[in-house]
Amino acid sequence: MTPTNRDLRDEIRDYWSDRAATFDDDPGHRIDADMVAWQDLFRRHLGDAQGRALLDLASGTGEIARLCRSLGFAVTGLDWSEPMLERARAKLPDVTFLQADAERTTLPSASMDVIVTRHLVWTLVDPVAAFAEWFRVLRPGGTLLVVDGDFVSRSLLGRIVQIMSPRGPQTESAARHKDILSRVHFSAGARADHVAGLLHAAGFDRIDIDTNLAPIHRAQSAQLGWRKSLLRRSEHRYAISATKPLAS
Ligand SMILES: C[S@@+](CC[C@H](N)C(=O)[O-])C[C@H]1O[C@@H](n2cnc3c(N)ncnc32)[C@H](O)[C@@H]1O
Repeated sequence: MTPTNRDLRDEIRDYWSDRAATFDDDPGHRIDADMVAWQDLFRRHLGDAQGRALLDLASGTGEIARLCRSLGFAVTGLDWSEPMLERARAKLPDVTFLQADAERTTLPSASMDVIVTRHLVWTLVDPVAAFAEWFRVLRPGGTLLVVDGDFVSRSLLGRIVQIMSPRGPQTESAARHKDILSRVHFSAGARADHVAGLLHAAGFDRIDIDTNLAPIHRAQSAQLGWRKSLLRRSEHRYAISATKPLAS
């Protein structure tokens, strides 16, 4: 076998790069009929934008950046996948998108008023390093908003849906996803209280776990179809906001 120094991070980046072309076609990724419900969630945790500097970590195709810009934030996006960045830049030509690892952003300390990230935390290799980095980049008094979920554990409802309507044969992409998921930090699923504990250890305070994502799931239900919609509602999905204390 040819020796290689590719590591898990390279595999994760390549996995997302290979999904970039069709990412927005997947219902639930592109924000559409659910835009107002997402705006409500972000306003609830971040307040009025007032032109504050916001970093969208793991910006993907730019959907969360688009949402935050619509609220009036001065948005910068960051992702490590060039094909994802290409799509985000084409969608939002006036937004700056940087290529970097979210665990080592290279951004100046205290340079952002707000950091948001959707569906990154579950796939972090080293969340302790990542949260320390985000704490550094936020200005004192700044807010972090994490939107994520436990995509491993299945509730009773989730198990019933899977028995009633099993998935077809596993695709190559789904097999890669499963393999990566088995090797990341949150391989047993990113539970909100576990994530909140790590945020607290990184120095964040005023940590608020919000599991009321039902308005978003309701708005998505027509595009998701009944199976995916029920599964989504059965999952442990959440938003966590946290503040960098003023005296830090
Ligand atoms: C599930 S997609 C989410 C995209 C976007 N946040 C959204 O909600 O539409 C995950 C994204 O995270 C990016 N990503 C994963 N780990 C990363 C890391 N350590 N640094 C930067 N980007 C990362 C991937 O390239 C991919 O674009």
